[in-house]
Amino acid sequence: MKRILHVVGARPNYMKIAPIVREMAKHANEFAQTLVHTGQHYDDNMSKVFFDELEMPRPDVNLEVGSGSHAEQTAEVMMRFEPVVAQFKPDWVVVPGDVNSTLACALVAVKLGVKVAHVEAGLRSFDRTMPEEINRLLTDQISDLLLTHSPEARENLTHEGVAEEKIHLVGNTMIDTLVRLMPLAEERWPALHSRFRFDQFVLVTLHRPNNVDDRAGLNEIISALNQVSSDVPVLFPVHPRTQQKIAQYEINVSETVRLTEPIGYIDFLALQAHAAIVVTDSGGVQEETTFLGVPCLTVRPNTERPITITTGTNRLVKRNREAIVSAIRSALDRPRNAAASRPELWDGKAAERIVRLFRELD
Ligand code: UD1
Ligand code: UDP
Repeated sequence: MKRILHVVGARPNYMKIAPIVREMAKHANEFAQTLVHTGQHYDDNMSKVFFDELEMPRPDVNLEVGSGSHAEQTAEVMMRFEPVVAQFKPDWVVVPGDVNSTLACALVAVKLGVKVAHVEAGLRSFDRTMPEEINRLLTDQISDLLLTHSPEARENLTHEGVAEEKIHLVGNTMIDTLVRLMPLAEERWPALHSRFRFDQFVLVTLHRPNNVDDRAGLNEIISALNQVSSDVPVLFPVHPRTQQKIAQYEINVSETVRLTEPIGYIDFLALQAHAAIVVTDSGGVQEETTFLGVPCLTVRPNTERPITITTGTNRLVKRNREAIVSAIRSALDRPRNAAASRPELWDGKAAERIVRLFRELD
């Protein structure tokens, strides 16, 4: 029996871990699973809704760390996670992605002599002003199993001295969740369509500190949305960080931009699938739009997910009003790129490959 302790903390983590928990549960005689929520995200619409919709078991432990500075949040997770690892004595701690909870839990585990598996290893933006880049670099250095979703991850990792045998290209567990829940999302679409009453629309998400914690930068992006929304409906479910910054900086959001609270996973998936274009700075949304074949404009100077550009539907756009308006307008005018395709192993079976690997491990 292998004891596996999974960690989730923030919105994008649930979609990545849920399929692994489901798949391991099919082999209950081989795996004893524990699910720990760090509580980095805690609003119902940033946490609970995803457990319900993804049909994840309730966390066995919630560390309830909440918000804080990077040091406070990371340290708080570490202090509260250490006794949990001591209590459950897992053989493996599984951490997803690149949030503060990821690094904090990986660091605690490795120092207690527990092996760490990193889901979505090897992504690099090569931009160390991003907190996520620091979390990715450090987590990968101390992980024992690096589970990657695209081929360039191996190059990034071996370049940093990670041993080849630790790296396994398994595919994208976030896409596993999408594949499983897409039929439900399609069932939700008629209700959403009548709620929002638009056909062609632009869907927006923004939350990167480099974009939203900068008054001038946030103003450039919102001004672009204001301008575009006079021609085409713009729907913008607002992340709590961004909500606060719009209020704090007194940014003018036009009445024609439809603001909402963060939306649950299944409805948001339906909205992505039916959007004419998605404007974002989210990592996960770059991947989901690529899988769905929906044009995506990423308001960032770089991406740690270049495969969404080379294979998929993603384009980078400068954080400048004119550039964003013109990129949205030309994307709306362009026919969809029929040649855009899905990266290899983004096929809904990544968790199966991961669990097979765990079953073969000592
Ligand atoms: C975090 C991750 C980021 C990820 C994002 C996903 C880090 C460093 N950042 O960014 O990589 O893309 O989650 O959404 O780990 N807040 C609430 N309610 C909540 C959660 C947050 O109001 O449930 C507010 C708090 O004021 C908090 C702020 O949002 O200070 C930022 O939250 P935090 O978890 O620190 O970072 P995110 O911007 O959410
Ligand atoms: N998402 C959601 N509701 C929203 C916005 C995003 O369910 O209102 C989902 C999205 O489909 C993806 C994940 O949240 O699965 C991405 O998380 P986020 O953008 O917060 O973080 P990132 O991927 O940038 O780390």
